[in-house]
Amino acid sequence: MRARCPYAGTRHLSLSVVSTLAPDDPRRQLDVGRTLPAAQQPTWPDPAALEEAVATLASYPPLVFAGECDVLKTRMASAARGEAFVLQGGDCAETFAAATADNIRDRVKTILQMAAVLTYGASVPVVKVGRMAGQYAKPRSSDSETRSGVTLPAFRGDMVNAFDFTTQARTPDPQRLVRAYHASSATLNLVRAFTTGGFADLRYVHDWNRGFVANAANARYERLARDIDKAMKFMLACGADFEAMKTTEFFSAHEALVLDYERPLTRVDSRTGELYDTSGHFIWVGERTRDLGGAHIDFLARVRNPIGVKVSAKAEIDDVLRMIDVLDPAREPGRLTFITRMGAGRVRDALPPLVERVTASGASVTWICDPMHGNTFESASGFKTRDFDDIVEEVRGFFEVHRGLGTVPGGIHVELTGNDVTECLGGSERIADADLGQRYESVCDPRLNHQQSLELAFLVAEMLTQD
Ligand code: PEP
Ligand code: CO
Repeated sequence: MRARCPYAGTRHLSLSVVSTLAPDDPRRQLDVGRTLPAAQQPTWPDPAALEEAVATLASYPPLVFAGECDVLKTRMASAARGEAFVLQGGDCAETFAAATADNIRDRVKTILQMAAVLTYGASVPVVKVGRMAGQYAKPRSSDSETRSGVTLPAFRGDMVNAFDFTTQARTPDPQRLVRAYHASSATLNLVRAFTTGGFADLRYVHDWNRGFVANAANARYERLARDIDKAMKFMLACGADFEAMKTTEFFSAHEALVLDYERPLTRVDSRTGELYDTSGHFIWVGERTRDLGGAHIDFLARVRNPIGVKVSAKAEIDDVLRMIDVLDPAREPGRLTFITRMGAGRVRDALPPLVERVTASGASVTWICDPMHGNTFESASGFKTRDFDDIVEEVRGFFEVHRGLGTVPGGIHVELTGNDVTECLGGSERIADADLGQRYESVCDPRLNHQQSLELAFLVAEMLTQD
């Protein structure tokens, strides 16, 4: 007898507009969050325009499907047990202008190339998660920005306002929420086409990686590349089904920051009656919005997606433990990921007590290392940058700490682009401070370029093969 697909038939997501919700509609739960303090929200100047944009979003189809979120949850659970390794990567802030076919292709290609190398290093499947198709909003350290005596609202991401330093550009415009949906939809459509239509074929990916090590600057990775080559030939000789390796799973993730975007895209799964934020498969809250009594944690607690919380060296461990009770009371495998971003200098002293106490509490979370956000500084020439060596050092510390404690390093979360930008220092191309101005394109944090991303993957693969 053929097994019945649990998602067959009826599992559509209901779509009615928020203001017309029935009294028993589960989305009414989200109203609780509206009464809580919400950090980092735009001040929309026109409430009627906001209401219209929110209603429009609520009428649109979901970007992802509840069943896919559940699949990712099982993948995250595997990573927590050491049976998979998670690679999350993409821009710090996506922009509408950069959501082009070439840029999306190159970012997906970079992630696929990294994943192939990491799969070899980890000897387990790599769960590929794009920090994309929704990463259009940014938390800021200040609500405003002053230049030459002129003060305007800070740039909060293309979902909210524009980067140019003019009153018009910086005024939050709710129609941008709708544009973010369309840009995310187009991005996701192309990503799905690339990853299921033949572009992700492991043989191509392997060839691209051969191109990377053919560059003399990357000669030190030749041995690992040769080992991968041998493994590919071995698989071929054994008759491995390369046709089946033409496609790959690929998930989307972003920071659930602007609640006027996330709430209307939250839908009821008709199979279970549960809420899912259908703006992306995996959503996280950042270091600045993870306040226990705040609206963001309340929101995450009410949706069933796999979720993440960024945790810095400043976090109070007692708060983190309380967060587990709020976000994952059922201790559901794969539900909760802590994305730690301690900084290369702090990871070895700040991470162990956190991991120890979380483990002792009986919680099972997935641990992922973000080696970017604890390592940002301003270069002598005034660019916000990161040093490749610090990034590698934080990942190294992350592995050391988990190995020392007998816990599982479940993956990495990196800001990267497939383009040849000059935003982070170092790497085999030895980008120096004087080079940063050549191609600094990020509107927010500095990203690893294509070469630096691959180099990081080779280095992490080496760390993984030390097991
Ligand atoms: C980010 O991921 O871009 C970010 C702002 O991170 P964090 O919340 O860790 O500072
Ligand atoms: Co960032």
